[in-house]
Amino acid sequence: MDLKEKIDKNNLPEHVAIIMDGNGRWAQKKGNQRIFGHKNGVKAVRDTVEGAGELGLQYLTLYAFSTENWNRPKQEVDALMTLLITSINSETDTLIKNNVRLMTIGDTDGLPKNVNEKLNALIEKTSVNKGLKLVLALNYSARWEIVNAVKNIISDTKKMDVNINEINNDFFEKYLNTKDIPDPDLLVRTSGEYRISNFLIWQIAYSELYFTDVLWPDFRRNDLFNAIINYQQRERRFGKTSEQLKK
Ligand code: FPP
Repeated sequence: MDLKEKIDKNNLPEHVAIIMDGNGRWAQKKGNQRIFGHKNGVKAVRDTVEGAGELGLQYLTLYAFSTENWNRPKQEVDALMTLLITSINSETDTLIKNNVRLMTIGDTDGLPKNVNEKLNALIEKTSVNKGLKLVLALNYSARWEIVNAVKNIISDTKKMDVNINEINNDFFEKYLNTKDIPDPDLLVRTSGEYRISNFLIWQIAYSELYFTDVLWPDFRRNDLFNAIINYQQRERRFGKTSEQLKK
């Protein structure tokens, strides 16, 4: 049976987030430079986005560049930025054809101007699309996002006379980059590493976590489908008991 047919369409995760890891190791295993891994990582992005669209997922968030990634060798950072531009150029038509809407989270103003301009143009072009929302986390880190939220809350409360008791989860979430995006139901990390690496720390409070040894450039839609099949076998209790859920 086709793997996709094993998925219960009535119990799909609304939002899947992925920490794409293992590009460097994939390339090194093949005796190549790390950037060869990133280039092949784009093929994995393409197939995963298509698979997510085919299933009818609402949101797919990909951790493409963290605030810590600036600490990599300049040659690798430059190559990643160039790859972003070439990927935007090469994937624009497919994204539009597949009704995908592009969004970003992260401090995109801190990206090189040409990358930011390309991104903004594609965000604008796809803003009317009603299919999968593809959220790229770029120059993103969860601690940056949370500190930024706190700064903006303090600045707004000074202006607006907010009672401190009004600050609750719902209030706080409106200051996160993900304010209009539901929390991920499923977080996937590739490459056999068991870490969160400063990704969506607030938002994954109740996400199901799935780790696979597959290195990102080898990841394909069937790996996404396997993660979702595994997710569908879990009981999400959100702090309640199993008995309460059955009522
Ligand atoms: C992690 O692997 C991967 C990245 C930091 C970059 C991810 C970028 C891409 C997949 C390509 C461009 C993306 C888009 C959305 C077009 P790693 O280099 O940390 O691997 P390692 O742990 O084996 O060293």
